[in-house]
Amino acid sequence: MGFSHVTDSILYVGVNDHQVDLFEGQYVVPNGMSYNSYVILDEKIAVMDTVDIHFAQEWLDNVAAVLDGKKPDYLVIQHMEPDHSASIAEFLKVYPDAIVVGNAKTFPMMEQFFGADIAPNREIVANGGSLSLGSHTLTFVFAPMVHWPEVMVSYDCLDKVLFSADGFGKFGALDVEEDWACEARRYYIGIVGKYGGPVQALLKKAAALDIQIICPLHGPVLTENLGYYINLYDIWSSYRVESEGVMIAYASVYGNTKKAATALAEKLQAKGCPKVVLTDLARCDMAEAVEDAFRYGKLVLASITYNGDIFPFMRTFIDHLTERSYQNRTVGMIENGSWAPMAAKVMKTRLEPCKNLTWLDTVTVRSALTAANDAQLDAMADALL
Ligand code: FEO
Repeated sequence: MGFSHVTDSILYVGVNDHQVDLFEGQYVVPNGMSYNSYVILDEKIAVMDTVDIHFAQEWLDNVAAVLDGKKPDYLVIQHMEPDHSASIAEFLKVYPDAIVVGNAKTFPMMEQFFGADIAPNREIVANGGSLSLGSHTLTFVFAPMVHWPEVMVSYDCLDKVLFSADGFGKFGALDVEEDWACEARRYYIGIVGKYGGPVQALLKKAAALDIQIICPLHGPVLTENLGYYINLYDIWSSYRVESEGVMIAYASVYGNTKKAATALAEKLQAKGCPKVVLTDLARCDMAEAVEDAFRYGKLVLASITYNGDIFPFMRTFIDHLTERSYQNRTVGMIENGSWAPMAAKVMKTRLEPCKNLTWLDTVTVRSALTAANDAQLDAMADALL
């Protein structure tokens, strides 16, 4: 892929991955993934992070092309997750004199991954500490749990660039054109969604900086209209509603629960609901479903009763929600059971850890929809508008 200029002296040297089957072991990425890395050329030269191990050589070639025979002075490690750190050892084989820059939490992890002998030349930076490269000075701002405890971001006051680690990243390689928000939201909710508080803390620190360019570790470099991206991050990390609408997530076996969910969707559309998302939890991309639950303000869960519990796909879905601190939403339930309907009770119990949920009246279906159910769904639709 080579390299490209972010500014006169900051160059992109990352790679695109179209081979990964599941990113971070669980996310489908139909348009691949980018692992970003940057080189800052100054009196001293810094390389910002590494890439996934499968692309170490391509990345090293990119770095070498930028260096044009020079040697890097520093390798800055903002995040130790292997999609960014896995090529540290490869880098140090080529540039053994480079000083690895991290914080007090970075190096123990580095030693866990690579052994105690990794990075004999190291510089441990403090929160708010800085590294002068000549014209550029990097200031390090710790961002614990965005998305691991050792994460830090780096601000270059010369070019007003924030190297934002996983923050403002997205799924999708950089050689594919696609909407930013769709895959950034799925990425954020899936991977960082649990850590809204730490992201809010980072946004507050970032607000004090004059940022013109954001250089994340995934996805495109952001250079324009930064308020748009920052506003979305503020909404997502404070668990506020992004879009008006209703998500109906169902788990059906013979189609009767699906019929109830579909009937509700049709009623909502007929009544003018601005957006209705109907999702079959057995057949969807679960990460997309979880993203939609956080995006919209209202959620209806429709599940059969199964072994005295709920259908496994619904259980998984709810686990994803509670794991990511789902909150501040209106929730309705449709349960189905032919002899002992239990689904609503189970779903509500499973959602107990979620703060600030407003519950609608439950609709109970016994095997198949009745006229009474239809009227109850109509009332639920009214309550959702
Ligand atoms: Fe892109 Fe948390 O690693």
